[in-house]
Amino acid sequence: MTNLPDDFTILALETSCDETAAAVVRGGRTVLSNVVASQMDMHSRYGGVVPEVASRQHMLSLAPVVREALAALPGGWADVDAVAATYGPGLSGALLTGLNAAKAMAWQRGLPFVGVNHLEAHIYASWLDVGAGGWGLGIGIPESQPPTPPNPQPPAPEFPLVALVVSGGHTLLALLRGHGDYEILGQTRDDAVGEAFDKVARILGLGYPGGPAIQKAAEGAQGSPTLPRAWLRGSLDFSFSGLKTAVLHKVQERQEQNSRLTKPGPKGKGGHPTPNPQPPIPNPQPPLDPHWVAQMAHAFQESVVDVLTAKAADAARQHGATEIILAGGVAANTRLRAELARRADVPVRFPPIALCTDNAAMVAAAAFHRFEAGAQSGWDLDVTPNLKLGAA
Ligand code: KG4
Ligand code: ZN
Repeated sequence: MTNLPDDFTILALETSCDETAAAVVRGGRTVLSNVVASQMDMHSRYGGVVPEVASRQHMLSLAPVVREALAALPGGWADVDAVAATYGPGLSGALLTGLNAAKAMAWQRGLPFVGVNHLEAHIYASWLDVGAGGWGLGIGIPESQPPTPPNPQPPAPEFPLVALVVSGGHTLLALLRGHGDYEILGQTRDDAVGEAFDKVARILGLGYPGGPAIQKAAEGAQGSPTLPRAWLRGSLDFSFSGLKTAVLHKVQERQEQNSRLTKPGPKGKGGHPTPNPQPPIPNPQPPLDPHWVAQMAHAFQESVVDVLTAKAADAARQHGATEIILAGGVAANTRLRAELARRADVPVRFPPIALCTDNAAMVAAAAFHRFEAGAQSGWDLDVTPNLKLGAA
């Protein structure tokens, strides 16, 4: 265990999925720059992330994103003390681009390097000092927003903590007894919650990424029905695939009802035979009505939020946690934030939305504590697409 100086400055990269991100963080908490080039538009036309497209785009975006992140330092590279990058879990080709770039830069400049677990990084977003209300995210190149004005630093989280990690690829509850000391209390047995949001949004015709689309649609809902909850009693595990299938069945029923209502009868107006019957249209599904879609989105979101918040609040109670940390892309969901804060007996900490979804500032925050614990990765560190929390 080493005590790093308060101004220890880390340049971190994140390329595990579809965001090319670089950030500079001082003392493990102060964000000096946080640049994210999102590929979302590129993938949305395919309804999800295409791994090859992601890797190619990372290759194109990495250099300008790093340059932009370093522009926050008056001395540039001379002010950087160490380099970090995500090495798993994630898409292997995408991870390779950021990991290799980071290793090459560190090696060339003789700087220490550490590989970071992406799930741990999501949790460490809660250590970042973002001031009251947080600050915006630079989407695309070359936008990046420094934290303005500097606000007093809120106290760092104190152990033991319970973390609810909810992202596109993962859903888990973990107990943190100290830095890097994790116990998995529960996890999903099938779909990750973000994945369920994305799939249900697709079923409802709401587009990609599904989480923000469902949240927005649900806001306009009135009098929505109730969908089932998979409680898996006696366990802190989750299951979301049954809920997704329930939505699919409701959509199919609705489409059958709608097509029965809209099918033309054998006769035209006034009971006379139709003179020129139209040829059948292939796939004649009438579009779902927006009011009903909003009700389904609302019912789905309520079901997910109910189970996640009940289990996170229980976990905190069972393990005497001082706080609950909400982490990962789905932590951007305003309904989840509000309901967890309402149900938990302890304070709930959630980063500003820009730091919930993938970014490199969280990678730098996690790296700081790994360096403090004396960790340093070798130049032979390889990507680990299925890396688990607690494995590093
Ligand atoms: O953490 P993240 O950026 O990437 C992964 O590591 O997976 O999470 C992305 C996931 C996507 O499934 C997206 O639909 C979901 O986070 N998400 C949301 C919201 N914003 C993003 N889910 C629910 N509500 C939101 N507002
Ligand atoms: Zn993530």
